[in-house]
Parts: sequence; C-alpha cells; structure tokens
Amino acid sequence: MTRFTINNSPVEFKLSPDTPLLWALRDAANLTGTKYGCGAGLCGACTVHVDGIATRSCQVTIGALEGTFVTTIEGLSDDRSHPIQQAWIAEQVPQCGFCQSGMIMAAAALIKAKPEPTPADIDAEITNLCRCGTYPRIRRAIIRAAR
Ligand code: FES
Repeated sequence: MTRFTINNSPVEFKLSPDTPLLWALRDAANLTGTKYGCGAGLCGACTVHVDGIATRSCQVTIGALEGTFVTTIEGLSDDRSHPIQQAWIAEQVPQCGFCQSGMIMAAAALIKAKPEPTPADIDAEITNLCRCGTYPRIRRAIIRAAR
C-alpha cells in the first residue's frame, strides 16, 4: 500500500509500487487531465507537480512517492483562476489541446520558481513538446502570467 496526497486529499493505492504515477492517476484516481503521450519521459504531456516540482508522471513510480504531495491539472487552482490558466485563455494558446495540461503544469512550476522568467528561462525550463507548434503563444502566456 502506498500513501501520499493528491490535490490536497490523502490517497492509498493498492497497486504495485512499480506502477507509474501516470497510470495510478488516470486509471485508479480517474484524474484524466494528465495525458499519456510518449511514456518515455520525452514529451511532457504527463507533467504534474511532486512537492511543487514539475515531474513527468510516466517516469516516477508510486512506490517512490510515499509521503509526497502531488498536484495535477485538476488541483492546480480551486477556482480555475491560476494566473497561468488566465494567461492561457488570454493568449488563446491551445490548438488541439492534448499537450496543454502538461504545458500548464510545467509553466506553473516555472513561474513559482522564477516569478519573472526571461525568454531564455522559458526555453530552458519548458521542454514539453507540442505537435501543433504553439510555442510562441506559450511563451507569451508565461510572460503575461508573470507580469
Ligand atoms: Fe510522460 Fe511523454 S508521456 S513524458
């Protein structure tokens, strides 16, 4: 049994400790905002926060999370007014939208760690992939959210 916290609620999973967090979230906790893209740590579609750090949930097993605090896109804001989400709407960032929850989680972690990120910070820290190529709008939204 693995115990940790997801979106401020304690959870216990009776899954193998080797289960990737991504699948515990999607299949056991029904938190499907976290997306499966590559399953190899490359695309970032599965990004969540673990103790506030942007983490690719396909690459961490639940057995490694005992006692941690996990935040998913569903728990990023109680009232859906996180500055990153507001900026995403203002800049009309998404195209197909599949990668966007992971992008938003990565961006939220970035502006928490660096409240005034430079374009170089954004390029260095936001390594998530977007097949639609929304990168210019993502950069504008992050700058807007950090204002
Ligand atoms: Fe985890 Fe692509 S699904 S990085």
